[in-house]
Amino acid sequence: MRDAKKIPLYERFAQDLEEQIRSGTFPVGTRIPSIRESSIQRDISFSTVLQAYQYLENRGVIEARPQSGYYVKLQPRKQVPEPEFEPLQGDPTNVSIDEVSMRLIHDTLNLDYAQFGAALPDPNLLPTSKLNRILAELARDGKFSHHLGEAVEGSEDLRIQVAQRAFGFGCDIAPDEIIITAGCTEALSLCLQAVCDPGDLVAIESPTYFGILLALEARHLRALEIPSHPRKGMSLEALRFAVENHPVKAVVAMTNFSNPTGSLIEDDDKRELLEILSSRGIPLIEDDINGELFFGDHRPRVAKSYDNEGLVMLCTSFSKDVSSGFRIGWVAPGKYYREVQCAKYALNIRTSVLPQLTIARFLDSGGYDAHLRKIRRAYAQKVMLMSQAILTHFPEGTRITEPGGGFVLWVQLPEKLASMRLYQEALKAFIAIAPGYIFSPTHKFDDFIRLNAACWSDKAEVDIARLGKVVKNLLARKN
Ligand SMILES: Cc1ncc(COP(=O)(O)O)c(C=O)c1O
Repeated sequence: MRDAKKIPLYERFAQDLEEQIRSGTFPVGTRIPSIRESSIQRDISFSTVLQAYQYLENRGVIEARPQSGYYVKLQPRKQVPEPEFEPLQGDPTNVSIDEVSMRLIHDTLNLDYAQFGAALPDPNLLPTSKLNRILAELARDGKFSHHLGEAVEGSEDLRIQVAQRAFGFGCDIAPDEIIITAGCTEALSLCLQAVCDPGDLVAIESPTYFGILLALEARHLRALEIPSHPRKGMSLEALRFAVENHPVKAVVAMTNFSNPTGSLIEDDDKRELLEILSSRGIPLIEDDINGELFFGDHRPRVAKSYDNEGLVMLCTSFSKDVSSGFRIGWVAPGKYYREVQCAKYALNIRTSVLPQLTIARFLDSGGYDAHLRKIRRAYAQKVMLMSQAILTHFPEGTRITEPGGGFVLWVQLPEKLASMRLYQEALKAFIAIAPGYIFSPTHKFDDFIRLNAACWSDKAEVDIARLGKVVKNLLARKN
């Protein structure tokens, strides 16, 4: 649990109110006390109540009706049972998950399937028409041809935009400390290549995003699994033990809203994480791809913002919020800049220019923050609605994470039901899911599945009900 003293007052009030709503005190459709009434009743300021209401609105718990007040939107429901956490330290291991993950990626192209598998954003929540307009303008005015000689590190226009945004979340990175990459995947791979040789040991979160495992596998790197709590992220105690007892060459961590659990490493813990690594000069490859997709009222910091030694290699992309097809990401590799720059050149010289310029102009045009506010609200609601549907349609004993950002849910199946079996049976019912099996090199999470809530809709609810039936049938056959 978060230390209650560290939770801001508005959030504590919001949690109390949400608790009342969930327990049925304020049924769906009821008007909750006005801001003024709550402010007087609870003896807290007007602005604190307003902040709390906006927070609950973002989470899809209440809705504002013009001239009328705030109303309950959420059905009362059971408390979400959190997945179990086993803080077991693993042994170094080779990685081999490519076959199943490739199949999964292939499934995402099959439009006959209900798509809960890949963690792709909702296409309707991407600014596609605006990007298309910019792209056409750029192509028409022919200016981009002047950029054919663009440097290895990528478009200066885009790096300036990225540096400005990074400054906004507490990270002082100059444009010439940034390298534009083909998505976050390339950023992560370049970092691994820059600091590791084949056979080296890399500490990773357990569970972790299978793309990171594929990157380790492709480079013949070994993995050391560090248990990751479903809410608090990588166990620092286990990490400390790991670096003291194993020749760890690098650590990869998704500090904000990890994939698959949605865990968040709190700021103090980010600081401690860096202390552990800096005492041994171990680089941190920080994946912040979900950092902008927070449901609360502020963007969490990155570990990079506490880094004075250049040990953190910060990686992210625009794939989740702007365009997954443009393949544009970036890395701020700290003191490993030169190594990453050389690796980038050796791999593909530089990232495709036109998508870089399009995103640079999109960011410069000023609509990005409004766009982010809109999609954060939408994803908070979709995650909440999918979570309720799972609790309704899945059997007793199912456990789910409650992420504070991103758009995936990590679901623990009852009675250790095998996710690979469910995966096969679900495909027969034309439903694609991501089996927990591929989120650990030792397949520790075979009783979990990851579900993407990004494209939540009425039709998706029907599909979740069908998936719930598949789970129940498998359980019945097992017993
Ligand atoms: C945690 C994480 N890192 C990296 C990636 C890959 O990002 P990109 O598509 O920008 O390569 C993903 C995609 O799902 C992800 O969830």
